[in-house]
Amino acid sequence: MELTQKNMSTSAVGIAGAPNLRFWNTTNGKKAIMAVTGVILAGFLVGHLLGNLQIFLGRDAFNRYAENLHNLPALVWGTRVVLLLAVGLHIWSTVQLADRKSSARPVAYQKYTPQTSTYASRTMYMSGPIVAAFIVYHLMHFTFGTGGTEYHYYDPYGNVVAGFKVLPIALAYVVAMGLLSMHLRHGLWSFFQSLGLNHPAYTPKLKGAAAVIAVLIFLGFASIPVAVLLGAVKQDIF
Ligand code: HEM
Repeated sequence: MELTQKNMSTSAVGIAGAPNLRFWNTTNGKKAIMAVTGVILAGFLVGHLLGNLQIFLGRDAFNRYAENLHNLPALVWGTRVVLLLAVGLHIWSTVQLADRKSSARPVAYQKYTPQTSTYASRTMYMSGPIVAAFIVYHLMHFTFGTGGTEYHYYDPYGNVVAGFKVLPIALAYVVAMGLLSMHLRHGLWSFFQSLGLNHPAYTPKLKGAAAVIAVLIFLGFASIPVAVLLGAVKQDIF
């Protein structure tokens, strides 16, 4: 077959006519990118949660923590760049894998009855975009101060309390945290599988570990809006 410029650039054929098997072009490569970026994002989540839980130590402790972070611009900007790259690559590999899946089955099942998948795994493509939308609102809310609730750059504690005193916002956060933890549970489980950790002896334990981590992260994050709604974390001075 004569190689035109078009099919040289879009097909999986390299210069010498050999298949282009660069790692990130393979399904396993894309799964690996998704797994590594997922672990980076989960690592950020754990750090962010531990920082946020300091809200229970009071306004001074929480605001001092935020100020200390802001005084480390290299850390803040380094984290932002890594997070942006990780989110971008995570979404990119998701889209590419979904595309491959639909090309492999161009005609949908007449009646789709999942046999072994969990509810979380079937909703990955729904929870992902909702979590992404949540992050956009969250940045407007607490980083840019354009989320529609009272905001003062120097008072992150006050911003969180003012934000979560609004019932629909607090509830939306709890729902988003629920979806995030379901996403995380399935993501962690897939990560263990990608590492080849699939064995009857420890598969149930790994599944359990993924569920426990996801539930702990949910409870940790959700405790903050709930504590504000119940008045346990409040605006003593403003
Ligand atoms: C109840 C839950 C949460 C609370 C109270 C909270 C609180 C905050 C606050 C106060 C900030 C602004 C920090 C500052 O500029 O001083 C912030 C930033 C941020 N949060 Fe959250 N957060 C929560 C959940 C989450 C979740 C679940 C994610 C990710 C899915 C997330 C991702 C981020 C990101 C990416 C930033 C921007 C960090 C930066 O400035 O580079 N947060 N959060």
